[in-house]
Amino acid sequence: MAESVLDVRALPKDVAYKQLSAHVAAVLDGINDSIAAMATMSCLLYHGFGYLWVGFYRVVESNTLLRVGPYQGSLGCMEIRFGAGVCGMAAVARRTVIVPDVTTFPGHISCDARSRSEIVVPVFDTQRNLLAVLDIDSELPNAFDDVDRRWLEQLVAYFGRSQPLKRGEAQ
Ligand code: SME
Repeated sequence: MAESVLDVRALPKDVAYKQLSAHVAAVLDGINDSIAAMATMSCLLYHGFGYLWVGFYRVVESNTLLRVGPYQGSLGCMEIRFGAGVCGMAAVARRTVIVPDVTTFPGHISCDARSRSEIVVPVFDTQRNLLAVLDIDSELPNAFDDVDRRWLEQLVAYFGRSQPLKRGEAQ
């Protein structure tokens, strides 16, 4: 069992995500539980990178409504409709959306006025149904790029596996 939370802020992104992904796999070793996984990923990403907000919005009405799930950070909005904000847009498009500057994104939902940039990654279950979206907010503009997208999509691939990850199986 990995006990402490890694701070990966000083590392190059690829190294940081590699370490974090290995840590997630170690903590979730043998656990096949989506809520436990959402909570663990939120915690490790939030503390690892020092982001403003990290968490999941879960699909509670198919193609209609997202509701907040496990997260870390300031108080999140409770519900977001498909198509609304960055989360709702990613949910409809079923693809990752990166917003370098939230002030120029039409319809951005501001849960915390300090947020400057954002990435939202769709989360699929084993049947490729949309289960949730992973939302990360940064106080810095332009904090997210294709490297984040790639690693975060790999991380949430956890939810599309029928078998739990084993320690040491992180990508
Ligand atoms: N900014 C998001 C809303 C969720 S909060 O950032 C936690 C959006 O526009 O969908």
